[in-house]
Amino acid sequence: APVTPMIVAIDGPAGSGKSSVSRRVARALGFGYLDTGAAYRALAWHALQHEIDTSDSVAVLEVAGDFDLGIALDPDDQRVRVGAVDATEAIRTPDVSDAVSGVARVPAMRQAINAMFRTLVQDSGRRGVIVEGRDITTVVFPDAPARILLTAAPEVRAARRAAELSEHDAADIAASMQRRDASDSTVVDFLTAAPGVTIVDSTDLDLDATVEAVLAVVRATDPQA
Ligand code: DC
Repeated sequence: APVTPMIVAIDGPAGSGKSSVSRRVARALGFGYLDTGAAYRALAWHALQHEIDTSDSVAVLEVAGDFDLGIALDPDDQRVRVGAVDATEAIRTPDVSDAVSGVARVPAMRQAINAMFRTLVQDSGRRGVIVEGRDITTVVFPDAPARILLTAAPEVRAARRAAELSEHDAADIAASMQRRDASDSTVVDFLTAAPGVTIVDSTDLDLDATVEAVLAVVRATDPQA
């Protein structure tokens, strides 16, 4: 019989350390990992390839019709394919970061992509999956046994992003991050924890300590994990 994977839902803003932490937690537990932000980025990239106006929801839904996403639930293989193209690097460009909020705010689009996430996880054949994003604890998997909101002070988040993208100006990054947070949070509220969601604040924690804090939440839920 197909196994139902144990789901660990992790939400948080950009620069909270979500992706690195989720990947490390997945490795530590032998779980799969799904970066839902990468899927939204891939869709935004796909829309830009079609040269549509990403603020036009009708146009977004139209190009979404032939959106063929290939994403492995493997913490050690985070390549992203769209159609025949490897879009792994392309989805991280500033153009895509700026376009992604536009496509992510179309409700019918979110419903379709959420259904895709649930199917990917359900059919993964894995014992467990870390699913990371903005609305995983509240909308995509509200019944997950372990649900975590990973937060960090805004200045710490901006500094982490700047360290990742060393060629950019830290002030530009802080401004662009604030723009995206403000725009994203009109769609889903990822800055407050829903009832039953455990907050892990990484402001004063390094990567190892944050991973340990998240693992502690998961093991409190399921000592077998
Ligand atoms: O985590 P990230 O920065 O790669 O996410 C990219 C964008 O996708 C971000 O602007 C918010 C959006 N997103 C979303 O709306 N819902 C999710 N579950 C994940 C990401």
